[in-house]
Amino acid sequence: MLSIEQVCKTFTTEILPERASGDSRKNKKVKPVKTKILAADHINFQVKPGDIFGFLGPNGAGKTTTIRMILDILRPDTGQITWMGKRTMDIPRRSFGYMPEERGLYPKMVVDEQLIFLARLFGHDKAYVQRELDYWLERLGIAQNRKKKLEELSKGNQQKIQFLATILHDPEILIMDEPFTGLDPLNVNQLKEAFLEMHKRGKTIIFSTHQMETVEELCENIVLINKGKVLLNGNLRQIKRDTGRTVVRLAIENDPEMSWLDNIPGVAVTKRRADFVELYLTAPTSTDDLLRLVMGRGGHVLRFELAEPSLNDIFIEKVAGVSQEQDPHRYAAVAQEYLNSTTVTR
Ligand SMILES: Nc1ncnc2c1ncn2[C@@H]1O[C@H](COP(=O)(O)OP(=O)(O)OP(=O)(O)O)[C@@H](O)[C@H]1O
Ligand SMILES: [Mg+2]
Repeated sequence: MLSIEQVCKTFTTEILPERASGDSRKNKKVKPVKTKILAADHINFQVKPGDIFGFLGPNGAGKTTTIRMILDILRPDTGQITWMGKRTMDIPRRSFGYMPEERGLYPKMVVDEQLIFLARLFGHDKAYVQRELDYWLERLGIAQNRKKKLEELSKGNQQKIQFLATILHDPEILIMDEPFTGLDPLNVNQLKEAFLEMHKRGKTIIFSTHQMETVEELCENIVLINKGKVLLNGNLRQIKRDTGRTVVRLAIENDPEMSWLDNIPGVAVTKRRADFVELYLTAPTSTDDLLRLVMGRGGHVLRFELAEPSLNDIFIEKVAGVSQEQDPHRYAAVAQEYLNSTTVTR
């Protein structure tokens, strides 16, 4: 078990205060002001061995800081982090495979040379590393790049090499900071498959991401943090069940807007997408009532689906503190704002 207990971390930075407009003291030196940032505020969560664990939070939430503390790159101010009862700072580095947010390989070094070099730093024999490397280069479809310098590869392929640098020394625990960022959908799939293979090999996988659908696909358990605090932690299915809500997704041919839904009591439309309209139901309308209403309108029903709320919705509701059910209009505005501001496509 990886156990993060009551972990706190404060950064102190200096920022230059903004001058008030109309301030005439142009040449006067402005003194920087010391500011404290509580990047981790009593963080508690646990990761089971062999789990694929999603580490979520908006930009600046404290994910990278926490990851660095797990790896003992940063020391917590208070609290402790243990793996199987032992402090992670006392565990050999080779137990961890770390894919940092800022990718850190050698751009001018040939791909296979640097991968073998890095894996052998952890004491593996050359034959083992070579065998694993051959397998993974084929598996990820990048074998033709093995004799190129890293800087000659596309961004996505460089990222695959970074993944190989994370796993090639056969670590027990993989900790990856936004491993899917910047990959096209095919490469995202390949990386997901690689995750599943590492999972089958019994590895513990922890990764941060802003891609909620990937988390829904891969992770049984998650933690969501914001402003250094844990907002949600546990089994993803249970977290969804705990919302106590059922979502209805509806599509009718030639009626994409379905504006008539707005006049039905107990129906809260929360999304109007090109492919479906999503809504929640509260009394007096039940899903059976809604289905009858829809059938009664006589259109060709393309979709009538009952689903759990998406992790994306739960994320936005928790982080922004807006209930989609109680305040669908504000929720829609906040969700749009989040989409505009986040670095999903970075
Ligand atoms: N070395 C540092 N010095 C000062 N402040 C820092 C330092 N590292 C992080 N911070 C601050 O700590 C907070 C948490 O940052 P962190 O990088 O952990 O967030 P994150 O969740 O990884 O965000 P993102 O999704 O953007 O990567 C932010 O307010 C950030 O500005
Ligand atoms: Mg980060």
